[in-house]
Amino acid sequence: NWTMAGFRDLEIERIRAQVGKGRVICGLSGGVDSSVAAVLIHEAIGDQLTCIFVDHGMLRAGEAEEVVTTFRGRFNIRLIHRDASDLFIDALAGVTDPEIKRKTIGRLFIEVFDEEAKTLGGADFLAQGTLYPDVIESVSFTGGPSVTIKSHHNVGGLPATMRMQLVEPLRELFKDEVRVLGRELAIPESIVGRHPFPGPGLAIRIPGDIDREKLDVLRKVDTIFLEEIRAAGLYDAIWQAFAVLLPVRTVGVMGDGRTYDRACALRAVTSTDGMTAEVYPFDMGFLTRTAGRIVNEVRGVNRVTYDITSKPPGTIEWE
Ligand code: XMP
Repeated sequence: NWTMAGFRDLEIERIRAQVGKGRVICGLSGGVDSSVAAVLIHEAIGDQLTCIFVDHGMLRAGEAEEVVTTFRGRFNIRLIHRDASDLFIDALAGVTDPEIKRKTIGRLFIEVFDEEAKTLGGADFLAQGTLYPDVIESVSFTGGPSVTIKSHHNVGGLPATMRMQLVEPLRELFKDEVRVLGRELAIPESIVGRHPFPGPGLAIRIPGDIDREKLDVLRKVDTIFLEEIRAAGLYDAIWQAFAVLLPVRTVGVMGDGRTYDRACALRAVTSTDGMTAEVYPFDMGFLTRTAGRIVNEVRGVNRVTYDITSKPPGTIEWE
């Protein structure tokens, strides 16, 4: 009978058989899929694996540090941390079109990844945290008749430009199974239970053009929202929760003064696969408490809205 421990052992054998004495590189994002793939492959082949973490500067607060301490510190995995935030943020200056944002980030990501791989002297294999739904989704995404809703950029979607063979140990698994496998591998719950996060990061949560200042404001709002969700014990009941910084200023009043600051939206949904989603029904007390904290603690934001659109017709992300 099938168990996850059995699957892990079998996959470790398969990875060893496939890779032999070869060298493997793996793009790490801090997300569940690439994390589980990396730790599993590391169990199989140790230092034959090097992970490359391209930090595009559009991660949540504290995420880059967590990736480095977890994978280098705790798991002893060879890890290259490339801080490429200036490159990405400069390239996105003035870019407002969501698809151009996505494509710019995707292209730069591959360029930087390739550069790091070449610095390493190349590798024989490219590891990816491709899941079963990714295999299917790449055939017909969102079920529509060949309409691209969004060009996905994803650490698992690196084209093997250096003619490497792929190592994809998760390609038979669904997300919930990957989480079980991650726990089997003793990956911290903060990573295994983490909400999905899009490859282009916070850039697609700032409609309009992005800059460092907006990214900082958004990170603060996002941190408070997630703190409140965790404090209320709701994190695991929600598929995904995040904040969006809106390209609009509105008038408010604080103390005796007029404010003219940014508005933000909060989004939280339930889902089983991201293909459809329902709004998470927070109680009003939760929402007003969170909004109060955001407006009081984040300078530059004076209005908070809650996005109550389901998918379809909305998508989960705003861009
Ligand atoms: P949408 O916004 O299309 O998102 O309803 C569905 C799910 O996919 C995530 N998402 C992405 N994940 N690269 C990713 O790895 C991407 O480019 C990307 N865009 C959206 C989104 O967060 C949600 O979980």
